[in-house]
Amino acid sequence: MELRHFLDLSDAGADAIAAMMNDAHERKAARASWPKGKPDADKPLDGYVLAMIFEKNSTRTRVSFDIAMRQLGGSAIILDSGTSQLGRGESIADTARVLSRMADAIMIRTDDHAKIEEMAQHASVPVINGLTDRSHPCQIVADLLTILEQKKPLPGLEVAWFGDGNNVLHSILEAAGLLKFNVRVATPAGFEPDAEFVEMARAGGSVVTLTQDAEQAAEGADVVITDTWVSMGQENVENKLGAMAPFQVNEALMARAKPDARFLHCLPAHVGDEVNEAVFEGPQSSVFDEAENRIHAQKSILLWALGKL
Ligand code: CP
Ligand code: NVA
Repeated sequence: MELRHFLDLSDAGADAIAAMMNDAHERKAARASWPKGKPDADKPLDGYVLAMIFEKNSTRTRVSFDIAMRQLGGSAIILDSGTSQLGRGESIADTARVLSRMADAIMIRTDDHAKIEEMAQHASVPVINGLTDRSHPCQIVADLLTILEQKKPLPGLEVAWFGDGNNVLHSILEAAGLLKFNVRVATPAGFEPDAEFVEMARAGGSVVTLTQDAEQAAEGADVVITDTWVSMGQENVENKLGAMAPFQVNEALMARAKPDARFLHCLPAHVGDEVNEAVFEGPQSSVFDEAENRIHAQKSILLWALGKL
């Protein structure tokens, strides 16, 4: 079998993502209310080890991959740049070759996407993108699972994004082209997503609207999503915060969406900035289901990458 890296959603494609959704749904249902670290009955990754590298902070990605491996019957090891030799200049290529001898898969969170491509080039085990400056595909598998749990079919779904045109939005756009939902993107001028992702979505048949009018983007939306205005590694952001202010998700904006619209946020949230407290804590918010679903999504990504799905 060819190595299955998961650097972006297109590496898996629509059929594999659909299979991941089904698998995640079934595994989640089968272990409802079990202790979190107890393995699934079939232990499909019994004895497998995941090496995780973090060059940026993480709570959800770190914990959910670790718990995902335990639930699949395997285990995980965490390296960070501060305490591994990566932080002292050991090359990505050598790190990839060493970890490939010691672990069955590698997950990396880093800044420059080129680093993860280099890791994949030199690894002989699957490499999974745990977030780069360019994209966050694992997050979007969890988001899609959360949307489906709300009984919202993906084809034709109207997703509205507010704020910064960042890595998370890029992966939403990639998913939109693969799974045929539409995306309204409301950002201040100068903070649009990369054109490459907009074109990718449109080429897949998704209707993508780019606007600076938040109210227009919210009109009739099925799902409302935002993220931090300042991503990890971004500096000199004083001007950005002022530009973002009109794109806050609040009750007035949610009132324009469909009455049963759901609110998603990958977290960590800055309540009072990109979303106000009433929406974040309100009845339309699915943010903690979304966070939990990182575990269930990660399991299906790992199973796919390791050829078990
Ligand atoms: N949403 C997400 O990736 O969270 P962490 O940064 O905590 O991993
Ligand atoms: N856009 C955010 C996502 C964090 C999970 C960041 O890159 O910091």
